[in-house]
Amino acid sequence: MAAVKVLADVDTGVDDALALIYVAWAHRTGRAQLLGCGTVAGNCTVEQATANTLRVLELAGLEVPVARGACRPLAGALRTAPEVHGEDGLAGAGVGPLYRKPSPEHAVDQILRLSRQHAGELVLVATGPLTNVAMALVLEPELARRLARLVVMGGGVRDLGNVTAAAEFNFYTDPEAAHVVLESGVPLTLVGLDVTHQVYVEETDLARLQQVDTPQARFARHLLRFGMEAYRRLGGPARFYLHDPLAAAVALDARWVSGRWVSLSVETRGERTRGMCVADWRRQPEAAVPHGPGWAWVALQVEGRRFVGHFMEELARWARGAGADGPAELAGGRDTRDERAAAHG
Ligand code: BDR
Ligand code: CA
Repeated sequence: MAAVKVLADVDTGVDDALALIYVAWAHRTGRAQLLGCGTVAGNCTVEQATANTLRVLELAGLEVPVARGACRPLAGALRTAPEVHGEDGLAGAGVGPLYRKPSPEHAVDQILRLSRQHAGELVLVATGPLTNVAMALVLEPELARRLARLVVMGGGVRDLGNVTAAAEFNFYTDPEAAHVVLESGVPLTLVGLDVTHQVYVEETDLARLQQVDTPQARFARHLLRFGMEAYRRLGGPARFYLHDPLAAAVALDARWVSGRWVSLSVETRGERTRGMCVADWRRQPEAAVPHGPGWAWVALQVEGRRFVGHFMEELARWARGAGADGPAELAGGRDTRDERAAAHG
């Protein structure tokens, strides 16, 4: 299978970081060609997301352009998620000297340029609020026809909300942007909570990664354990949901999920429902591939345990194999558990 040409738009973010590692490893093993990353405000500020992305790619041993994007949603103020991702968006690992710099290009310009250079081939995977993607579509509506696919982690049609009862974080953060994207006619694959809530890591899933002792393995374990602990603190079970990694995997291979075409819109005004995905189940697609405004292919099922097994296996392979030319330890590369053990003598 030819390497999939990928551009990632991210708000790095603990699970974005793991999605980037997954794509970077696919790049290094010939299954993907990561052409660039764009950053957007969401889980943290865009400056922090840019720095986090540069750090993660450095640890992954991959040098690709990282372009800074929008610093706030199209309308309304930015509300970041330190309670889930830490103050720095990267579980405390987003600090310390940074050796790489962002590219001088804006993330929106990067989307437009790469979509022209790789017309019909580029898969754009967006795992943050859709601000950059919407801006690009407003600047050049033809972008919708140049992309091979746009894979979005966002929304949900049966499993609706994680930030509010009705809305998922990325759609909630910038519903106006989601509206622009849904109305653009872009070939859209939605990887929402319907499937991402079926893929989660628990402590027992870390066994294989636990056998690897590299900065990469320690970093991955730290992120996963930080995420589990955050979720537990918020009142849930100690689980890490692989929201963004599943979207990244679907960008490389759509067969991970099954689903159907759904007529979709997003609520932008509701007092309790802002950012909610509204599926019109009454409408049936008129064509087998109903590309067009208001239609998205929505992922509804995934073999959860199979995907988690695959993802953890890839992560362990990366942790073993990326080390050769990888950089020194990130702040979070120390194991949370090892630290705790040390603290308790
Ligand atoms: C999404 O929200 C963010 O916090 C995660 O990075 C993911 O993209 C899940 O709702
Ligand atoms: Ca994200």
